[in-house]
Amino acid sequence: MTEIDFVPSAYTQTIATGKVTCKAPSNIALIKYWGKKKNQIPANPSISFTLDACATTTSLSYNKLEQPINGFSFDLMFEGKSKEDFKPKIETFFQRIIQYVPFLKEYHFSIETSNSFPHSSGIASSASGMAALAFCLVEIEKLLNPDMGNDFMIQKASFLARLGSGSAARSIEGSLVQWGIHNKIENSSDLYAIKYPYKVHSVFTNYHDTILLVDKGQKTVSSSVGHNLMHNHPFAENRFKQANDNLEKIKKIFAEGDLKKFIEIVESEALTLHAMMMTSLPYYILMKPNTLQIINEIWSFRAATGSNVCFTLDAGANVHVLYPESEKEIVYQFIKDQLVVFCENGQYICDRIGFGAKNK
Ligand code: PMV
Repeated sequence: MTEIDFVPSAYTQTIATGKVTCKAPSNIALIKYWGKKKNQIPANPSISFTLDACATTTSLSYNKLEQPINGFSFDLMFEGKSKEDFKPKIETFFQRIIQYVPFLKEYHFSIETSNSFPHSSGIASSASGMAALAFCLVEIEKLLNPDMGNDFMIQKASFLARLGSGSAARSIEGSLVQWGIHNKIENSSDLYAIKYPYKVHSVFTNYHDTILLVDKGQKTVSSSVGHNLMHNHPFAENRFKQANDNLEKIKKIFAEGDLKKFIEIVESEALTLHAMMMTSLPYYILMKPNTLQIINEIWSFRAATGSNVCFTLDAGANVHVLYPESEKEIVYQFIKDQLVVFCENGQYICDRIGFGAKNK
């Protein structure tokens, strides 16, 4: 598939008005995407667990305009309130995708969106938000072009979501999703994510992710700035190679269910992501003292109990605590007894592996 394959031929149907509603989850990368080329093409392949509880629900009402306009006509409500400051981001997204969804210029859209996770939790909503919006757009396109097949719809939703926010490409399907060309992963693509196509041991089918909210404030450096700092980064080439190597290694781990090796790759990926930030120019640190406290507690607990609990981080201070279903009681008790104290206002979110975006 190339970009051109996502440009639709003339629509066969006309529709005056309607409404679609979709819900898309967030995802947590095990092998991290960090660094990108033009048009949101990733500098290295990544793989993630799709989440379940952390999700965005978006409704798109559409009304055909008398005639197509030059810009885009839309209004936006976020959690029941008009949200002017989100509009430029949507406008940029629409500009990026207009050639793939030309009907955007033919309608006025009312976008209503809300997140399941609390306001300013430090959890980025761009993955679930862009995935939900992209999914809605493909649902509308299906009405204009009823011949569009299901597999293609999913691919196109991921393709469009990627143009909104790279990691959003991985929020359309579940539960283990891979994005970015890798020479040992058949059908892998830089343009959209795919369901991980190889054997996955049952231990990975119902993993838990408890997200510890260490710092709920706005990040000091955004992900887009961070990605850009990978250009001319002294360790960039080695990092991109490491991600490719880790993806190859993790194939065997997924097949065999080797949790010790899984932990090694996942924690190393998390720390490498932050190491890249600390060695960028300008350098910066997104972890907080409590992030490190939690990591050390997890290491001590693992050493003392032999548990398979581990952590990963996204581009922020919050900690994702990952553990298999068989350990849910003991790890949850550990979280409550020893980790919640490091969370801002004692807040955390219990999440687990999920199955991707759906219409409602
Ligand atoms: O999708 P973006 O541009 O917000 O980048 C996200 C990057 C990480 O979350 C740090 C890693 C990843 O692969 O999701």
